[in-house]
Amino acid sequence: MENSLAVDYQLQENIGVIRVNNPPVNAMSQAVRMGIKQAVVEAQSDNCQAILLLCEGRTFIAGADIKEFGKPALDPSLSDLLATIEQSRKLIIAAIHGTALGGGFELALTCHYRCAISSAKVGLPEVKLGLLPGAGGTQRASRLAGVEAALDLISNGNPISASKALTLNLIDTILEGDLAEASIAYAQKLVADFAPIKRVSDINIEKDSIPTGFLDDARARFEKRFRGQLALQNIVSCMEAAIELPFDEGLRKERQLFVECMQSDASAAMRHLFFAERSAAKVKALDRSICAREIHTVGIIGGGTMGGGIAMNFANAGIPVILIEVDDCGVNRALKIVERNYGITVSKGKLSEEQKDHCLSLISGTTKYEELGDVDLVIEAVYENLDLKKKIFGRLDEVCRPGTILATNTSYQDIDLIASATGRPEDVIGMHFFSPANVMKLLEVVRGSKTADDVISSAMGVAKIIKKIPVLSGNCYGFIGNRMLRSYVSETQSCLIEGAAPEQIDGVMENFGMAMGPLAVGDLAGLDIGYTARKALSQEKKGAPKTYCIADALVEMGRLGQKSGSGYYLYDPETRGRMNDPEVLTVMQQQAEKLGIIRKPISDEDVLNRLVFSLINEGAKLLEEGIAQRSSDIDVVYVFGYGFPKFRGGPMQYADTVGLKKVCHIIDEFYNQYETPNWECARLLKSLATKELNFSAYT
Ligand code: 3HC
Ligand code: NAI
Repeated sequence: MENSLAVDYQLQENIGVIRVNNPPVNAMSQAVRMGIKQAVVEAQSDNCQAILLLCEGRTFIAGADIKEFGKPALDPSLSDLLATIEQSRKLIIAAIHGTALGGGFELALTCHYRCAISSAKVGLPEVKLGLLPGAGGTQRASRLAGVEAALDLISNGNPISASKALTLNLIDTILEGDLAEASIAYAQKLVADFAPIKRVSDINIEKDSIPTGFLDDARARFEKRFRGQLALQNIVSCMEAAIELPFDEGLRKERQLFVECMQSDASAAMRHLFFAERSAAKVKALDRSICAREIHTVGIIGGGTMGGGIAMNFANAGIPVILIEVDDCGVNRALKIVERNYGITVSKGKLSEEQKDHCLSLISGTTKYEELGDVDLVIEAVYENLDLKKKIFGRLDEVCRPGTILATNTSYQDIDLIASATGRPEDVIGMHFFSPANVMKLLEVVRGSKTADDVISSAMGVAKIIKKIPVLSGNCYGFIGNRMLRSYVSETQSCLIEGAAPEQIDGVMENFGMAMGPLAVGDLAGLDIGYTARKALSQEKKGAPKTYCIADALVEMGRLGQKSGSGYYLYDPETRGRMNDPEVLTVMQQQAEKLGIIRKPISDEDVLNRLVFSLINEGAKLLEEGIAQRSSDIDVVYVFGYGFPKFRGGPMQYADTVGLKKVCHIIDEFYNQYETPNWECARLLKSLATKELNFSAYT
């Protein structure tokens, strides 16, 4: 029988085989739900003795179809389908390969038996979308694996291996060889053995098995770590329901809590980010017929803070790296730091000794540029100095074979000026990693005016290989992220000098969801970095003195941040805990007096709006200028590079949530109050607000 293009049902000997085929990840769209339901109904009255559910392509069902969320529900609902499956009078077996995630794994949990190949993974990642498993996942996983293990699985959202799932009783067996063949044989054996229909809903949870206070502790822990995130608290409520209520009531409770999450701004923001992350990798107007250049070997110039981390990314992906330093001492220092960093990963249990040795064997160091003659990609990561970078690119032009991609990790320099030092500007591109480069997910790929399409495509492609999230930026001072950061930092400094205290500003931003407030970040990074960078800038680029004079004064007093024990705060030498310092207040007052500013209280709301709306306004200008391809790219940059809270979806999504009319209105008020160019409302923002549109409508 052909149910639909997405689902096929055929009898194979005595087994009714349902095959799902909905590329790329077999998401459970309406067609899939309908097709499976029809097949299960048909199987009840045909000659099959058991039903097997298999998926074609690279994976088992990877979840509900997220594109359908927020739209009118289409029958059959997932819950309806799962009820049909659970009540089947014939055995139903799920055969898992790839990743059975979310609604896909909930469907498998509803089948009477589950088998998987050893490379398969299963999980309930809904929390990453601000949701909870809404089709019985909380009630069934807790019955099979126990409440403690289920809470762990559902609250962190990470998939687990088939072998872990087997130990947790979430699957029944692991099969070897071809899954289709092995699972049909498994189904036939169950039939031959008169295996009973096992419905998870029949299992009772022993209340005594749960440690006293377990759920209260979880609530408190989640409140502390994921403040204000509804999904985590609702997941605990689902666990409570699994313990306290009969199965059907537990299901109803889960559904109600799921709908509550689905309607929250946090879930809308996290679903926005899911698609934003994926569309960021796509470059508009790129010639689709071009082939990316292959990257098998990489050269890195400069093994300092960034170069070492960048080298690790490639070695982790199995790509050999040649690291160039100024002298042998620099080479040794760089390799030692890399080795120490790998050692830390091993001590955390995230890497084995053998894996560490393998990665280290892929990184070699030298002082000779000639050794880069044959590499496919070079990434320069020396000091932020244009003349030095130009000199290095001139040398690369001499030693590298034609076709080598020449990239710079510069944070601010003009890619075209760097490219002009070579006779092949089409091969030059920015690849801006974030610190620590082996940890941070973001990679800004910066196109120069002459960068070739295949070079852009290669840089975006290699990002995926080294597990980064690439975002394309045009060439401007600071590119997307650091240009916006300048507005944010300068507004922070303005708030300080006008009357806010460091702890107020950081407190407001941390309550908003930032991992750290801007001043605490400054202390962590070291205030001398910005100080030195400012010294190299023209007065125009430095901006108004009120946007940096406090920072300069602190550095000149030897307050460099955490490393010197004091900056905007005092730091406990042992715990590194931050404490407010009255001396900083004196500095702020002195600097304000010098500039004729009378300090007065600023409300928390104004602090928040000034900092976040400065990001939004600059983001809108980047869009208007075509530096960013889409507003969602800006969100990806801010969430994955600068710690903007995921549950706010990024600055542009936050603006959409607030409403662009309101955002414009407040920005106009700030402009009337401060009359500074940064508060001139971006034209694009104004025009979208006037048309009652939002950023997500601007593509
Ligand atoms: N719904 C709709 N589209 C989906 C999807 C889903 N659940 N999962 C992936 N896609 C799309 C992606 O948007 C992408 O589309 P594009 O090619 O047009 O950009 C395409 O499938 C491929 O995805 P990836 O690029 O992410 O492919 P990978 O191979 O890198 O990863 C994956 C595959 C591990 C399955 C990953 O896509 C993933 O984690 N997907 C989301 C899984 C998930 O969150 N499931 C739970 C959904 S919520 C739910 O089920 C609610 C239920 O409890 C009621
Ligand atoms: P760093 O000062 O830690 O390291 C620079 C390294 O380059 C030093 O080890 C130095 O010996 C080496 N070097 C200098 N001249 C060289 C030459 N001619 N040949 C080979 N090696 C040479 O600097 P860091 O912080 O790693 O920055 C490097 C680049 O990365 C800069 O352009 C910076 O703007 C950018 N960047 C820095 C970030 C950070 O947080 N540190 C974040 C993102 C980008």
